[in-house]
Amino acid sequence: MNRIGTTLTAALLAAVSVVATADPVASAHRRDATETGGDAEAAAAAKRGIEAMSALQTRLAGRLMAEMARGGPVAAVGVCRDEAQQLTASVSAELGVEIGRTSHRLRNPLNVARPWVVPLLPAYAGRRAEDAGMRIVDLGDRVGVVKPLATQPLCLNCHGDRDAMAPEIREMIAKAYPSDEATGFALGEVRGLIWAEVPKAGLGGND
Ligand code: HEC
Repeated sequence: MNRIGTTLTAALLAAVSVVATADPVASAHRRDATETGGDAEAAAAAKRGIEAMSALQTRLAGRLMAEMARGGPVAAVGVCRDEAQQLTASVSAELGVEIGRTSHRLRNPLNVARPWVVPLLPAYAGRRAEDAGMRIVDLGDRVGVVKPLATQPLCLNCHGDRDAMAPEIREMIAKAYPSDEATGFALGEVRGLIWAEVPKAGLGGND
């Protein structure tokens, strides 16, 4: 959460403005938002999105690491394969935020990018995650947020060089995801994105 943090709202407002100005569709929405004082609403929505993304990341990493410790990477493939989608759905339901993971090189076709995320993918492909930054997009009545996920040492077990992967893992992945494109990532490279989509209106109305 490095860059954001202390001056969260100010930073978010700046980020929302920058993206909105760059995109003609979003600019039209931005005019509406400004007229109705919607910038604060957009910043609050973006903040909720960022919190939800952190919650999902923490939960997935927690399950992944627990399973790695218990049964090693072979057992952990099962967690990703069988639990990732379910964990994502429960974070989404609990926090009232649509959320998911995607990538320019997909493993699971269920993680295909939403239309508003598709044009952002090339900006992350092949980049170092620490240089790639987060993007906030004005979607009219919603705010979209994307954040890059870095390839960490742990990830290489299942997303690194195919030849360096354990044969059992290679087999499980080939069987479950015949069109897998998510190997060959380098340490520090963007493996994919976590995204969230948050309504601007009705803040606090999900309890
Ligand atoms: C034990 C094997 C394993 C490890 C370790 C692992 N993944 Fe995955 N990953 C998978 C599998 C299997 C899927 C497809 C199932 C799913 O999550 O939807 C996947 C899917 C993904 C996706 C969703 C996009 C897509 O291509 O379908 C992202 C993003 C991702 N992984 C990032 C990471 C990152 C970042 C790490 C390290 C912190 C990591 N993974 C570690 C096995 C693994």
